[in-house]
Amino acid sequence: MSTVQTAAGLAACHLIAFPRIEDRRGNLSFVENDTQVPFAMQRVYWLYDVPGGAERGGHAHRDLEQVVVAMSGSFDLVLDDGVISQRFHLNRSYVGLYIPSMVWREIDNFSSGSVCMVLASKPYDEADYIRDQDEFRSAVR
Ligand code: TYD
Repeated sequence: MSTVQTAAGLAACHLIAFPRIEDRRGNLSFVENDTQVPFAMQRVYWLYDVPGGAERGGHAHRDLEQVVVAMSGSFDLVLDDGVISQRFHLNRSYVGLYIPSMVWREIDNFSSGSVCMVLASKPYDEADYIRDQDEFRSAVR
């Protein structure tokens, strides 16, 4: 049986402003382990070519921490820790949203051509997912 981490909940979710090097040739931002994000990144993945009206997510992670960035366009993240739920609108490539473990997330309202990049603290592991909302609610109760 997998260990369920202590739920930090929505109180731990926060926006991160990445450094911005502004230049008339175009701006530059960057991210480094342990400084801009509160964990050592072990994986980066991204969602793209999302059709209009599609929804992604619909799960929580037992242990994984993530930072989500709208690299292009915009989308909404609906986060739920079993007690409170909050909708975040991401639309800047220099702003990330930190999501600790044990937070249910759904992603919707993707704009056309948007790209959702996720910085993750661990490699992909299906055993880390909770994909059943009732199971999630029981685990955080
Ligand atoms: P999933 O995390 O459920 O997508 P989302 O939460 O964005 O809707 O992943 C969808 C599929 O992709 C699933 O079969 C697992 C696979 N996958 C990987 O193989 N590696 C990865 O790093 C991720 C994030 C997903």
